[in-house]
Amino acid sequence: MRDLDSFEQNSHQDLKFLFVVDINYFYKIMNICCIGAGYVGGPTMAVIAKKNPSIEVTVVDINAERIAQWNSDVLPVFEPGLDEIVKSVRDKNLFFSTKIDEAILKADIIFVSVNTPTKTYGVGAGRAADLKFVELCARRIASVVDQGKKIIVEKSTIPVRTAESIKAVLAANSSGAEFQVLSNPEFLAEGTAIADLENPDRILIGGDTTPEGKAAVETIVSIYEKWVSRDRILTTNLWSSELSKLVANAFLAQRISSINSISALCEATEAEVDEVALAVGRDSRIGPKFLKASVGFGGSCFQKDLLNLVYLSEHFGLPEVAEYWDQVIKMNDWQKKRYGQKIIQSLFNTVFDKKIAILGFAFKKDTNDTRESAAIYICKDLLEEQAQLSIYDPKVEGEQVIEALGLQEDEGNLLGVSVVNDPYEAAKDAHAIAILTEWDEFKALDFQRLYDNMVKPAFVFDGRNLLDINRLRKIGFEAYGIGK
Ligand code: NAD
Ligand code: UDX
Repeated sequence: MRDLDSFEQNSHQDLKFLFVVDINYFYKIMNICCIGAGYVGGPTMAVIAKKNPSIEVTVVDINAERIAQWNSDVLPVFEPGLDEIVKSVRDKNLFFSTKIDEAILKADIIFVSVNTPTKTYGVGAGRAADLKFVELCARRIASVVDQGKKIIVEKSTIPVRTAESIKAVLAANSSGAEFQVLSNPEFLAEGTAIADLENPDRILIGGDTTPEGKAAVETIVSIYEKWVSRDRILTTNLWSSELSKLVANAFLAQRISSINSISALCEATEAEVDEVALAVGRDSRIGPKFLKASVGFGGSCFQKDLLNLVYLSEHFGLPEVAEYWDQVIKMNDWQKKRYGQKIIQSLFNTVFDKKIAILGFAFKKDTNDTRESAAIYICKDLLEEQAQLSIYDPKVEGEQVIEALGLQEDEGNLLGVSVVNDPYEAAKDAHAIAILTEWDEFKALDFQRLYDNMVKPAFVFDGRNLLDINRLRKIGFEAYGIGK
């Protein structure tokens, strides 16, 4: 055991030398455990395992079905490129298991990548992040580990200062072990997860500024350094790292709400939102990304993390800050509502018993994830008006659609929902087509064929500005985009 007191007395230069040369002195990395085999845990650990053949990575979960899927030919997460990577490392140095305690005990580093949804009960309901799963992980780690050193890495997105609670839980419940708690938020976006993981804009690692904290941070740096250049790996204090993740998502969501607010103004003025976005985004200070007007942002992160930021701002006595970010969510809610209303108004103010083809149900293309998808809200609004929905998505299963809409399995038909496997079937005898996800395959549909088999006048509502509206109008469609 190294004498930490004499260690602390070393000059800064000496410390640096020690950390660089002797990085594995404190933590010899051989074994990683990741708790949570979801959209983040699975892909992230697959890439870490692939890039670090000498490290054994075990991903564990309480959900046995999910673990079985990770061990099967049909993975629970659809991501371009994911299958190949998992197949290349699974059962070599990547393992999926339900033996959580065993994996925790064996690991030198434990990533916590469990879900942190918006709280639905008690104080902060509807806004604060529910940290019960994170806390359960900390308690489980503490109950299992009673000796040695382990690095605990917050991979989940959590409110700023969560590490404090994790440290407290660990300290109060473990007898002889030493823990370093780090923050290493994940910035991947679904649909491009593998590309984002393999070529990240940055890796962010936050830790304590003590020698042990710094050593732990450098240990995690050494894992990423296998494929990410050092200048893209940012190391900060714990709180900056925790907060940066929420702020990054808030800024991205803010851009979408900004352009979506302008889409409404475009519709009132004959300006075209895609042209405005192009012109505005060409300013290098603004940049072209995340300026695509849409039916509203969805996904498991943006709304949840914005709500969390709003809640935190209020908690820290900053109501003006809270209100500022809350408006980003309100604008998104309004955009989703506005789109549903546009459909109803255009269909002569009633969709009662009218068949509407919903093309796309995932919250974005190239994913099977439907969490907080704008499609859910729009479908619910249309069902409220007693429309008949025929839903097609290339990657989302029928069961998942029914569940996302909050229906019982046999309730779908009763309430006017059918989920089909073919876009032409969805649109047959329909009054309107609503494009809700920007799947590439929708661009290649035979719109003449769709038109020929629809009730006239036939409408298209392109909620993603995916299609050539003028071409659709030439076919005979009443066609509407967003912000045009
Ligand atoms: P997910 O719901 O897909 O996966 C979480 C998994 O954790 C589930 O399989 C669940 O069974 C498991 N779990 C929960 N409690 C557990 C426990 N006590 N022990 C073992 N397993 C447990 O969630 P996700 O989308 O992977 O997100 C995980 C975290 O990463 C969240 O905090 C999220 O905000 C953040 N994040 C998500 C994305 C994304 O695009 N999905 C991107 C960046 C960050
Ligand atoms: C987001 C962040 O991008 C990612 O960095 C973070 O780690 C997790 O949250 P994700 O939610 O997976 O990723 O997808 P993203 O590409 O950000 O899209 C979110 C939503 O915004 C989707 O519904 C998408 O369709 C919508 N969107 C995105 C727009 O409406 N317009 C845009 O210009 C971009």
